[in-house]
Amino acid sequence: MLFESYSSFAKTHKDLLEEKLRVSVNKLVAPSVIKEAMLYSLEAGGKRIRPLLTFATLFSFGEDTRKGLMVAAAIEMIHTYSLIHDDLPSMDNDDLRRGKLTNHKVFGDAFAILAGDALLTYSFQLIAEIPDEYADASTKLALIKELSKASGAEGMVGGQVADIAGEEKELSLNDLEYIHVHKTGKLLECSVVSGAILAGADEEKIQLLAQFAYHLGLAFQIRDDILDLEGVEEVIGKRVGSDEVNNKGTYPSLLTLDGAKEALHQHIEQAKTQLRKTGLNISLLEEITDLIETRDH
Ligand code: IPE
Ligand code: IPE
Ligand code: MG
Ligand code: MG
Ligand code: MG
Repeated sequence: MLFESYSSFAKTHKDLLEEKLRVSVNKLVAPSVIKEAMLYSLEAGGKRIRPLLTFATLFSFGEDTRKGLMVAAAIEMIHTYSLIHDDLPSMDNDDLRRGKLTNHKVFGDAFAILAGDALLTYSFQLIAEIPDEYADASTKLALIKELSKASGAEGMVGGQVADIAGEEKELSLNDLEYIHVHKTGKLLECSVVSGAILAGADEEKIQLLAQFAYHLGLAFQIRDDILDLEGVEEVIGKRVGSDEVNNKGTYPSLLTLDGAKEALHQHIEQAKTQLRKTGLNISLLEEITDLIETRDH
């Protein structure tokens, strides 16, 4: 597929993704309240940055981007589950997400927890159901392994544990880097690497793309920390100042706001340096990288 611009690429693929999410949940044979709770958060919007990374990576290899649709939906489901749980009273205790009341404020804690569980588990089913013409059995296995590692104790969950434990102590920059790379970076890395796996990339390309995504993931969470301080609530769709209330270690709290912006810029530059080494058609991935430095939501 050829795109006139990044915005036409983003619009086309967000529409495809949103349709896939809606249809996938609607066809579940399950109590209607759980489907409602899953769709409430999935359809609340969100930037869909992880799916767009998977599509843009496929594009960089010259592949049909539609190959990535099931994986993109799976990753967005994992991400959305993590947000539902992250907002619970026993986690960050937030009441606003994607510009709407958080899931537990509408459905109660028990159904919010279960909606998260249902999204998490459904994601692996979606990968198992990728049409055979897009991925053979060994490719699906590689994708499932990648997503499990990225979202579990070695990845996102590990980072969230360190994030919560860190509320009770002074964090070093190394501690904070571990938290950011894991709670946020691993799933972003998985979005890129999954696109590469679907494209049949060799190990060298996968490694270069993983290094790109490492810096991209760190940059993404540093920007999130900055927006928690200087974002506008109506624009970011979540409460400003949540990190301070929860006594979180963040890049601005360790390095000052200017220091955090400098670190953000460094990681954006390093991400682009890695990307250029791949020899792929990186235009869309570069555009996403630039957007991450300046995003306002
Ligand atoms: C928010 O993620 C949580 C983080 C991991 C930083 P996003 O900023 O991607 O949130 P949505 O999906 O656009 O709502
Ligand atoms: C999000 O970190 C990490 C997750 C895996 C959910 P935050 O707690 O900073 O995310 P927001 O700011 O609530 O979106
Ligand atoms: Mg959190
Ligand atoms: Mg939070
Ligand atoms: Mg945050």
